[in-house]
Amino acid sequence: MGVTFDIAPGGALHGTLQVPGDKSISHRAVMLGALAEGVTEVAGFLEGADSLATLAAFEAMGITVEHPGPGRLRVHGRGLDGLRPPAAPLDLGNSGTSMRLLAGLLAGQRFDSTLVGDPSLSRRPMRRVTAPLAQMGARIDSTAAGTAPLRIHGGQPLHAIDYALPVASAQVKSALLLAGLYASGTTRVTEPAPTRDHTERMLSALGARVERDGARVAVHGRPSLRGTALTVPGDISSAAFFLVGASIAPGSDLRLPGVGVNPTRTGVIDILRAMGADIELDRPRTEGGEPVADLRVRARPLHGIDIPAALVPLAIDEFPVLFVAAACASGTTTLRGAAELRVKESDRIGVMAAGLATLGIDARATDDGMVIHGGALGGGRVDSHGDHRVAMAFAIAALRAGGPVTVADCANVDTSFPGFAASAAACGLRITAS
Ligand code: S3P
Repeated sequence: MGVTFDIAPGGALHGTLQVPGDKSISHRAVMLGALAEGVTEVAGFLEGADSLATLAAFEAMGITVEHPGPGRLRVHGRGLDGLRPPAAPLDLGNSGTSMRLLAGLLAGQRFDSTLVGDPSLSRRPMRRVTAPLAQMGARIDSTAAGTAPLRIHGGQPLHAIDYALPVASAQVKSALLLAGLYASGTTRVTEPAPTRDHTERMLSALGARVERDGARVAVHGRPSLRGTALTVPGDISSAAFFLVGASIAPGSDLRLPGVGVNPTRTGVIDILRAMGADIELDRPRTEGGEPVADLRVRARPLHGIDIPAALVPLAIDEFPVLFVAAACASGTTTLRGAAELRVKESDRIGVMAAGLATLGIDARATDDGMVIHGGALGGGRVDSHGDHRVAMAFAIAALRAGGPVTVADCANVDTSFPGFAASAAACGLRITAS
């Protein structure tokens, strides 16, 4: 199906790799730029299918976006009430972030809208956003299973709620904060554990009053947002493949400049360091309200660990490749408390355990995690199940495999990392995409 990766075994990673812009921040730059008054200039935008789906949705709602150069956008915001009714359902492809955040944002509009997605997105749970949005006064229809299509009835007055998230989810938190922009009163969301805070940072940068008090974040309704210049850092979730690749491939020494190191995203660095990795953060700085650094990673033998529960939400997208790190580590790595991985773009626990077993690794899936005994990786053919991060994780595994690795169904790598195969080949992965 679609794109296949063929990777010859071995090799090492060298040189400098500029990873593409952060996917989470790219979505938010378009959404909040559209709701602001005036122009928002964006640099470093991720030109991947997921963030482009968000962009197309806003264009379909009357927002003009100029594209002055690679990674650059000029979003002509029309204010909180400036969106126009879309003529057709908004197709968000594979992108859970687009669908969940838009559900919140569109619940407060005067017009009706419908959100659809691809087969993977159409299986993912949406009640986690529709239920609290209903408490705010929204009317959103889903399937009986609580999945997309989502039909959002406009013209419903929203009121603020005080909501305790049952799962640590930045998408749910963000959906409620975006609905809160349209609500009377102050919307408050309490998180069971810290999750990525890009929505809060960007709202503040655009002039909204966002207050944090411990685990609780509050946004005041009907702010006036002003367009500004936003810089999107490199995506640490894309850098993660190379942090692992350069750690496991002997002789590697790789630089990854300009990567976002927001502390709500750096669990992957903490977990790899706990496993013995050699990762340096150079030139720490703040760009566009987000912490950024240049990363350098050198190969080092890794050892298995019990992954601390507190790090799970801070590394939630990095587990596919962290499982590969665990497969290459000495000893046993245990992950618990990560049931959320079962409802990502694929069931990342089931799919990764199956692929690792195909490559000869003793990996046992549990309800909410995995137990992996490090060992010798063999070659073989694995299936990504259309999951971009699974595809890239298995491509990286080939650095330590005993034979060629083929990864099927890789087209969705373009959702988050367009040009992955070329970038990886340029620094030493023996990969071809066909
Ligand atoms: C994201 C939040 C996370 C993450 C996803 C992006 C975001 O999802 O897995 O890739 O941009 O807010 P959850 O909120 O479902 O954990």
